[in-house]
Amino acid sequence: MKQNNLFKFTKEYFNKYKEIIPNYENFLSYLELPMSQYFRINTLKIRNDKEKQDLLNALEKKGTFLKEIKEIPYFYKVKNTQEISIGNLEEYRLGLIHSMTLTSSLPVIALDPRQGELILDMCAAPGGKTGLIAMITEDKSIIVSNDKRIDRLTALVANIKRLGITCVITTRYRGEQFPFSIPFDKILVDAPCTGEGRYKIGEKGEILYQKSNRRTNLPSIQKGLLIRAFDILKPGGIIVYSTCTINPEENEEIVDYLLKKRQAEILDWDSPLVFHEGLTEWENKVYHPSLKLTKRYYPHEVEAVGFYVAKIKKV
Ligand SMILES: C[S@@+](CC[C@H](N)C(=O)[O-])C[C@H]1O[C@@H](n2cnc3c(N)ncnc32)[C@H](O)[C@@H]1O
Repeated sequence: MKQNNLFKFTKEYFNKYKEIIPNYENFLSYLELPMSQYFRINTLKIRNDKEKQDLLNALEKKGTFLKEIKEIPYFYKVKNTQEISIGNLEEYRLGLIHSMTLTSSLPVIALDPRQGELILDMCAAPGGKTGLIAMITEDKSIIVSNDKRIDRLTALVANIKRLGITCVITTRYRGEQFPFSIPFDKILVDAPCTGEGRYKIGEKGEILYQKSNRRTNLPSIQKGLLIRAFDILKPGGIIVYSTCTINPEENEEIVDYLLKKRQAEILDWDSPLVFHEGLTEWENKVYHPSLKLTKRYYPHEVEAVGFYVAKIKKV
């Protein structure tokens, strides 16, 4: 397909969200730009300001032009993204840095993990958020990192080893059937989704991330994951439900389902990045008013992958 046709196809696909995406034309133009690259410094290996400065100097010597993200500590944006591949740098192989999109930090910030807590990362691979939880808790929490796919768990294990993390136990179950009812303090459900927040029209003319046809009933899986997470959470415990998609049927509608089935409460939290309130209605469906405390992040506003984040308390 030619670029013009692709743009038309993309426009038609996203047209259903025209009323909810702010500055819709800017959103469409943003889809044509290359994906921004971000990384975080791994403070489990970079222990002080001098080591941090040495690392930044070394990266700059290798031709990376960096912008510090003031709102989220330890995150940097690579300004010359088309010339640099973070994964190929020695500093990456040594576990001094880890590449992850900026918005991927938000579910972990909402979770607010603390030392000594027992935390389940229900859909954890390849481990970006597990790694950040371990870093924030200085490797002093217990994280059960679960994923149903063995190939992706292998990547997770390689990542946590490279990052010097020791507080992780890995398990391989369908989250909906997670067998242990150890009461977790906190659970992250970073659910499989259509990934619309990642959509890009590729430079060579293809859409890099398309809606997968294989995942036919994602909302049903997402509901199963969230209900199981709720049932194995301790009373007063916290769940963060997140996706990287725009579709309300995978976002607000899933959380609304939980509110109808269980004694759950939506909590507000301080977001470091610009967001929009969660929707309370979509296509003639009305959701619980507290859904507006959930947060939507659009790619063109945050210059990263679009995300949805809901913080939930077990009453
Ligand atoms: C959005 S990705 C997770 C990304 C990860 N949290 C990170 O930060 O690196 C969703 C993950 O869910 C896993 N998954 C899909 N269906 C699942 C299920 N029923 N139970 C558990 N994991 C599942 C996929 O294999 C995939 O790794």
